[in-house]
Amino acid sequence: MNTYTEMEAKLDTLRRKDHIRILAMESSCDETAAAIIEDGRRIISSVIFSQADTHALYGGVVPEIASRAHVDACDRVIDQALKEAGMELCQLDALAVTYGPGLVGALLTGVNCMKGLSFTSRLPLIPVNHIEGHVSANFLTTPDLEPPFLCLIVSGGHSHIVRVNDYADYTLLGQTVDDAAGEAFDKAARVLGLNYPGGPLLSKLAESGDDSWLELPKPHPAGKYDFSFSGLKTAFLNACHKMDQKGETLPRADLAASFEKAVVDTLCEKAVLAMKDSGLSTLCLAGGVSANRRLREEMTKISQKHGFRLCMPELWLCTDNAAMIGSAAYYRLKKGELADLTLNANPALSLKM
Ligand code: KG4
Ligand code: ZN
Repeated sequence: MNTYTEMEAKLDTLRRKDHIRILAMESSCDETAAAIIEDGRRIISSVIFSQADTHALYGGVVPEIASRAHVDACDRVIDQALKEAGMELCQLDALAVTYGPGLVGALLTGVNCMKGLSFTSRLPLIPVNHIEGHVSANFLTTPDLEPPFLCLIVSGGHSHIVRVNDYADYTLLGQTVDDAAGEAFDKAARVLGLNYPGGPLLSKLAESGDDSWLELPKPHPAGKYDFSFSGLKTAFLNACHKMDQKGETLPRADLAASFEKAVVDTLCEKAVLAMKDSGLSTLCLAGGVSANRRLREEMTKISQKHGFRLCMPELWLCTDNAAMIGSAAYYRLKKGELADLTLNANPALSLKM
């Protein structure tokens, strides 16, 4: 029997098991992470090795450096996750890995590492979509959260509004037509002289700024729930460059606050619109930008005003981690989804609908 046939044969018994423990790995961008998750909801251990300091030297993620750093770190984070859990590989039920979207070299490191581990340990391997992982971070923070709900996913690469119909079952309602929210934050931060990753630094700077200092355009893309951040970003960059050319000192905090307000207002407006139309009672946030203080505060106010439930991952679960991958993997395993050893990285993978 080859490995995949052997895994498929085990799958039925595994799906009916009382408790399922999954060792998950994430390496889609600049975090090498491993975690052990029980039943999609309980974090037994979680290790995140961030390469941010290395990439900060270059002002952004350098894909080649990211791949090499993942190669160096992947064994270490897996060992550490097992050690923190006080577990051996033989006490696990399955393995999971992010196979897209993301940087191809970075993804390949994780995919090959986990394929090798699956082959030698005879543990089934579950392929996970990184965006689905972000959504699933909410299952780790909010124990009683059940679909259906609406989710606003805002990260460095994606800005989506999705209806989560059921576990691992989505309908895409809207998305960005150009830049992602995190990408816009990072580009605006760079103009203000902030290093990578710019989003959290811009947000910190904005705390002492006047958010009405600069009025920015409100983009209106064709799709009712779509976003567009490119016009807003260009208007911001132009305003900064004009001041620079005139030799004026940039009011950096005011500019940061004005930019943050414009992005957060757009995200809130579209999310509320989608919530009202959907008839759903729960809105979840997901992705790196959902760690933004202003977004969390505004969404809290709005959800109280409109009477819907708001769920947000704990701050450390908003940005990239392997715990969220382990949660998503559990629900994919329950649906019987396994990878064989031909699994490849897919840098442009979209959320499976
Ligand atoms: O989800 P994530 O860790 O990686 C991707 O899947 O892209 O998101 C990273 C993005 C970066 O663009 C980063 O600047 C942004 O999330 N980000 C923030 C904050 N924390 C992370 N943006 C605004 N405010 C924050 N506090
Ligand atoms: Zn991410």
